[in-house]
Amino acid sequence: MKSLLGTLYLLGMLVPGGLGYDGSPAEVVDKTGSPWRSLETYNYSKYHPIEEIYQWMSQISEKYKDVVTQHFLGLTYETRPMNYLKISQPSDNPKKIIWMDCGIHAREWIAPAFCQWFVKEILQNYKDNSRIRRLLNYLDFYVLPVLNIDGYIYSWTTDRVWRKSRSSHNNGTCFGADLNRNFNVSWCSVGASTDCKDLTFCGTGPASEPETKAVSSFIESKKENILCFFTMHSYGQLILTPYGYTKNKSSNHEELIQVAEKAANALKAKHAMTYRVGSSADILYATSGSSRDWARDIGIPFSYTFELRDTGTHGFILPEDQIQPTCEETMEAVLSMLDDVYNKYWSSNCAGKVMSTTVVLSLLMLFISLL
Ligand SMILES: *[C@@H]1O[C@H](CO)[C@@H](O)[C@H](O)[C@H]1NC(C)=O
Ligand SMILES: *[C@@H]1O[C@H](CO)[C@@H](O)[C@H](O)[C@H]1NC(C)=O
Ligand SMILES: *[C@@H]1O[C@H](CO)[C@@H](O)[C@H](O)[C@H]1NC(C)=O
Ligand SMILES: *[C@@H]1O[C@H](CO)[C@@H](O)[C@H](O)[C@H]1NC(C)=O
Ligand SMILES: [Zn+2]
Repeated sequence: MKSLLGTLYLLGMLVPGGLGYDGSPAEVVDKTGSPWRSLETYNYSKYHPIEEIYQWMSQISEKYKDVVTQHFLGLTYETRPMNYLKISQPSDNPKKIIWMDCGIHAREWIAPAFCQWFVKEILQNYKDNSRIRRLLNYLDFYVLPVLNIDGYIYSWTTDRVWRKSRSSHNNGTCFGADLNRNFNVSWCSVGASTDCKDLTFCGTGPASEPETKAVSSFIESKKENILCFFTMHSYGQLILTPYGYTKNKSSNHEELIQVAEKAANALKAKHAMTYRVGSSADILYATSGSSRDWARDIGIPFSYTFELRDTGTHGFILPEDQIQPTCEETMEAVLSMLDDVYNKYWSSNCAGKVMSTTVVLSLLMLFISLL
């Protein structure tokens, strides 16, 4: 039954108009002719329901088909397709991957808004902006705009502050697992609950939820090439490093903190917002089973959680007039991190190449002089 539905949804995805809130394929014809149907008038300063985001993903991969492709990751509990966007400039250079997911927690609407902003900024600027063009020489971006799609829909239709997924537990008496407690790292040891009624319910086992499984199998399969793992949340104005499950520090902790502090400074320079930097266990709270800790422990060197605006005035219900400034400043922070990571990996490699070229040349000269 489920796989039949899944197939229907996959087909629905191909139909202009995408999916309705309830997951049923929406009408093909747009009766209202509402302006968001055109990519040119898509308003990035608004929160969008899921079917608009599905359509946006299709439109953006159509408009920029030379650099953007859409890929299937898996199905949600309610059998909706999870797709990510891959932004990749064709080239023979060996590439590293930057992963970014948004909306693992349903109510944190600013996060999906940022993922969309990020994609738009890269695509609108990669031709003319030398900073972004340079990054795309060696980096591919994989962006999952809404990880917890079922929960996101529920936060639009039924409960604005819903956090978890929508899986059914205890014979249908309670719903949803906290997907950011469900990853296979120190699972449910601290800062998570085994009671399905709780907000931080860790699921029935590590990666028990289909959304977690889809993301973690994919990341696992690409881990050798993933340089950064960014997971976007709100709220609190924090950049969090591993770990949450222990006060122990990751092997490159100092480097992670330095890169994040530089990013927080770049962010502050935009609209004077202050972000704090530190490990989750140090500056927020203890959590186990988070995607950030899991990503770091499978070997991804730069793994960060962003907690975007604000610090509690509006909390999860961040007004739409703060979307643009929040996205602008976050873009500065992410670009700062990407510049740093790029320089660490590629400038040093270039130096290495220059060095070996010099050695080869000297040997050649020596050889010639011996003739
Ligand atoms: C985009 O949405 C924002 C928030 O609702 C609104 O203030 C703004 O006027 C909209 N922009 C356009 C061009 O429609
Ligand atoms: C589960 O719920 C159904 C319908 O409400 C009920 O008939 C069944 O006995 C319940 N099973 C358990 C194990 O509680
Ligand atoms: C969780 O990770 C451990 C290794 O740390 C592995 O042995 C185990 O099979 C994993 N469990 C799942 C459900 O992926
Ligand atoms: C933290 O580090 C100590 C000392 O290396 C180690 O014994 C302990 O197992 C670590 N704790 C966790 C949760 O990894
Ligand atoms: Zn969150």
